[in-house]
Amino acid sequence: MSIADTVKGAAQGVMQGAMGKLVPLAPDSWIPGGVPDPLIRQRHGLIGSSVSRLDGPLKVQGKARFAAEVSLEHMVYAALAYSTIPRGRIATLDASAAEAAPGVVLVMSHLNCPKMNQPAVFGSSPSAAGPSDLPIMQDDRIHWNGQPIAVVLAETQEQADHALSLIVTTYETEPSTTSYAKAKAAGSKPGLFMGQKLLNEIGDAEATLAKAAHKVDNVYLTPRHNHNAIELHAATILWQGDELIIHDSTQMVTAEAATIADVFDLKAEQVRVISPYVGGGFGGKGLWDHQIIAAAAARVVQRPVRIALSREGVYRIVGGRTLTEQRVAIGATADGHFTSLIHTGTAAMTPHNNMPEPFILGTRAGYAADSVKLSVETVTMNMLANTFMRAPGEAVGTFGLESAIDELAVELGMDPIELRIRNEPDKDPITGLPFSSRHIDEAWRTGAERFGWDKRNATPGARREGEWLVGLGCATGTYPYYRMPGAAARITLTREGKALIEIAAHEMGMGTSTTTAMVAAERLGLSMSDVEVRYGDSIIPGAIMAGGSQQTAAIGAAVIAAHHALVAELLKLAGNDSPLAGLSRDEVGTEQGGLSKLDDPTRRESYASILVRAQRDSVTVAEQASQPLETMHWSMHSHSAIFVEVRVNAVTAETRVSRVLGSFDCGRILNAKTARSQFRGGIIMGLGMALMEDTQFDERNGRIMNPSLSEYHVPVHMDVPEIDVIWTDIADPHTPMGAHGVGEIGITGVGAAVANAIYNATGKRVRDLPITLDKLL
Ligand code: MOS
Repeated sequence: MSIADTVKGAAQGVMQGAMGKLVPLAPDSWIPGGVPDPLIRQRHGLIGSSVSRLDGPLKVQGKARFAAEVSLEHMVYAALAYSTIPRGRIATLDASAAEAAPGVVLVMSHLNCPKMNQPAVFGSSPSAAGPSDLPIMQDDRIHWNGQPIAVVLAETQEQADHALSLIVTTYETEPSTTSYAKAKAAGSKPGLFMGQKLLNEIGDAEATLAKAAHKVDNVYLTPRHNHNAIELHAATILWQGDELIIHDSTQMVTAEAATIADVFDLKAEQVRVISPYVGGGFGGKGLWDHQIIAAAAARVVQRPVRIALSREGVYRIVGGRTLTEQRVAIGATADGHFTSLIHTGTAAMTPHNNMPEPFILGTRAGYAADSVKLSVETVTMNMLANTFMRAPGEAVGTFGLESAIDELAVELGMDPIELRIRNEPDKDPITGLPFSSRHIDEAWRTGAERFGWDKRNATPGARREGEWLVGLGCATGTYPYYRMPGAAARITLTREGKALIEIAAHEMGMGTSTTTAMVAAERLGLSMSDVEVRYGDSIIPGAIMAGGSQQTAAIGAAVIAAHHALVAELLKLAGNDSPLAGLSRDEVGTEQGGLSKLDDPTRRESYASILVRAQRDSVTVAEQASQPLETMHWSMHSHSAIFVEVRVNAVTAETRVSRVLGSFDCGRILNAKTARSQFRGGIIMGLGMALMEDTQFDERNGRIMNPSLSEYHVPVHMDVPEIDVIWTDIADPHTPMGAHGVGEIGITGVGAAVANAIYNATGKRVRDLPITLDKLL
């Protein structure tokens, strides 16, 4: 049975089991989030205020030590060689000149690599972190153009890089599939995302479309995208006997440690992954071949190894977003009611990974329609294993869907916002579950007013200022609220009234550690300065991934659980001589450094007083978060309304984005400053997706041709106007702190909003990203 089948079987087992049937029907109060979190009251101290990142000063002073800055005694430096063919085998690999070069300590290839197990591919189990299930340096097989084939360890990085150039490799090439057309001709398979079929059907959408009074039916293309976090992928690796310590840049310390342990036949506790600072992740900072190769090499030479990929190296071995070809067809009545909604198409992937860009996810929760057909099929290519990239699915899926809605609005002669609001669902269109909190209409209303949407001229090309054609466009997005199982938190409270919160979470620059300190301080009734948060280390209990915009909710649920345990423990320690004597956990709250009875605050005692009387210096509790059943009981999403103004030059056809407004409905915003920055960052990434980002993949040989930031374009400051961000701040009563994720909703919808604005400016409809000037001339 393939890994995909295993995942599918396991997930279906859960969904079709008793839980899957009972959870939606259970009373709200039985479900996590069924009783609103006390922290979601309208005004509550730190929650919602603007707090600067606690790690900010360290970073601007260069005092935050990233993975490639960890310096260890006797450390050697690694350099990787990459294959130059897409498929076949290594015929000869001559390392003799490299081995004789100055400073070289080891040249390792499949010829002398120690035996290792294949990594478990991400998604095949909760602790699997492998990019694919391919063996790493275990045989002479080549699976993609850019696959690591040898590593050199040397006393300096320069010596390693030089020696690498002396390795002579010959290949026996075998037939490969590096053209998308050829891959499609070979046939497609149903896509599976995290064990779920990417297929939904309600009624007969094709037949309904055929009969529709008004319709659009078009194909939208999105290209490959590579990850370009500012911090390059890097690890500094040390063996201490049979224990492996990896200083890494990762968004999944726990899963990475578990997977690496399996690769080397170690127990989970023999591998420690430490990652306090990550210079951008976006889905790309996980386990790739380089950490495993470097760990194997470090064990051979019995010295610590630093491996830092070059920018080109990131393009060769770190997968990105794959290409998609999407058909979106909508049938509607004259007053705009959707009778048919079809979103189908194809994404390319490899036979060995697990990530069919799920571009229908946003459509599932987008609109009410009488009939629906959604599906993602996959075709197979010989290429680098693609992976998650900010809003995988939604980012490019909303380009198709929200462009098509704009096209339908033109066809109907209706305002595109009005068209969307008319098709706003009152329950989840696919599952029928009630929404936990959905206020897109409010985001549209406040956004349109602030942006001045009423001043838009609906006639394309009608507004010209000198050489510049000016247009306005909009789009919306949804991104699911997730909460992955397995989170835990440990709280240590001292008699000085200080708290240490330990969570195996990640700070990739989003402000997670700061927001966690805010939330913990609020829950414990302490000031921020009395709270310390430790994270980014796999020896901390629990497993949290910084992905799916769910980390903050997962942390929140873990802190709730640990806090409950702490209060129970404190009440026990307080004993019979306390003003709190006889009270149960549910009768007390925390405030100003102590516990008090909720309905009689005169019955209170400080933490210090409780611990002193109990003759304790500190108390420590660790607890697992509740199972994330709320996501089976409600339909839960972040929502956006995105407004864009573009100026397209009538002579050169270059596009300048001159104004952007993001209007968001994402529950309670916890930290206004870091949330605004997340929204803006997502929008900027969306501008890049709309206008620039494009991995040039040579279809003759599968080689990525633009593996550098000079040839792969992302927005620079001059490309980004002032970005205005507003939010509803309506708390979701069913999530920890009332919050939804903010990491991925920002990019969602931006591609379509830009395309729609370009249409309004020029009358040209581009259905093929990126919208470069050649497509507008
Ligand atoms: Mo994200 S693409 O879940 O880091």
